[in-house]
Amino acid sequence: MPVIAVIGAQWGDEGKGKVVDLLAKKARVVVRFSGGDNAGHTVVNPYGEFRLQLVPSGIFYRETACIIGNGVVVNPAVLINEIDKLNQRGVDTSNLVISDRAHLIMPYHILLDGLEEESRGGKAIGTMRRGIGPAFADKVARYGIRAGDLLDKEAFLERLRLVLDYKNAILTKVYGVSPLSLDEVYSQYCQYGERLAAYIRETTIMLEEALNREEVVLLEGAQGTLLDPDFGTYPYTTSSSPLAGEGCLGAGLGPTRISRILGVFKAYCSRVGEGPMPTELKDETGDLIRERGHEYGTVSGRPRRCGWFDAIAARFSTRINGFTGAAITRLDILDTFPHLKICVGYKLDGRTIDYFPASVADLEKCQPIYEELPGWQAPTNHIRDYEQLPPQAQQYIVRLEELISCPVNLISVGSAREQTIMKTPIL
Ligand code: IMP
Repeated sequence: MPVIAVIGAQWGDEGKGKVVDLLAKKARVVVRFSGGDNAGHTVVNPYGEFRLQLVPSGIFYRETACIIGNGVVVNPAVLINEIDKLNQRGVDTSNLVISDRAHLIMPYHILLDGLEEESRGGKAIGTMRRGIGPAFADKVARYGIRAGDLLDKEAFLERLRLVLDYKNAILTKVYGVSPLSLDEVYSQYCQYGERLAAYIRETTIMLEEALNREEVVLLEGAQGTLLDPDFGTYPYTTSSSPLAGEGCLGAGLGPTRISRILGVFKAYCSRVGEGPMPTELKDETGDLIRERGHEYGTVSGRPRRCGWFDAIAARFSTRINGFTGAAITRLDILDTFPHLKICVGYKLDGRTIDYFPASVADLEKCQPIYEELPGWQAPTNHIRDYEQLPPQAQQYIVRLEELISCPVNLISVGSAREQTIMKTPIL
């Protein structure tokens, strides 16, 4: 049975939560493998509407183990709040597991995220200010504190003392702000540890056992490919890899185990935060997409920048992730447009190019070259069969398939589970 990775193929907010919630019905394990509470996965199902930041989107199925993998950075306060809210709304979280190797977001990470952003002035990245970047930086700099550390209070105190001395030096000497109190941080995190202890454990063995039993495992990506620190619009990126390759590293399984990789694309583009976006529409069409799509950040509430589908970026995304199939979400948002545009090339310094440049300076200069397709101007959110879609909508999907170079498995026409068209089966 397969391991399926569900990957954001653009700049995040593609609708991965809905897709995972849908596929999780047949899965026995769902693993979040990157990011942290900068993610906001919206799920609408019979329990109601949820915005999950850390808990995997498979949590609504009691039989499905939901692992927060080693590749995630966990803010324990946010996680406890999320667990409490789920429980209050009747969702059982006893199937939740936190990898003992997952790094923790500490109060200084959040402080430093804000201070670093302010010190960048006009070149700010537009982060979520949740400490994500500083926490991943500490992981590789070997100053991190992991979930498993909370289970041994004495060792935790020793580790925290060492790290906090160093962080306080940065806070006071570089930024001139007050230091954090060791006692306060320690006692707060000991409380978190007591609360979360039952969930924290080694997770690679349970994953291997599930694979040996031939159960379906879903790897739930966070953010999107174009925010990847290597392949995204660096430095306007996040700090962990949203790519399929990270699905192995951030969950703890070998690359040969992944059998399918589903790229989740919106039927148009959106981006929140700074950095280049060649098809951004700073006009009434962009405003219309934003309003029709309620394109405001799930976590931050910031208005998202909106634009036409960028097939150059999409093909790049397929290339570096190895998508075996695509999910096209939010097709219904385009229902009212008389014409639709797809970017099929860029003009850069008088030349036409068909690749996604590495340099943000080049990307800023790229002018999209559009192909125009007729709109369908009819509602699609009640449609469940591909053949029932208006011919122009089918034409749009077929063109996307050609341009992004992989078959479309699934089309989403609304936020509810049932507002889904299975074009070709995934499982
Ligand atoms: P950070 O991940 O908070 O450090 O933010 C870095 C960049 O990634 C900013 O432009 C954020 O707006 C963007 N970003 C982070 N998480 C998400 C997400 O889940 N969806 C969309 N954009 C995100």
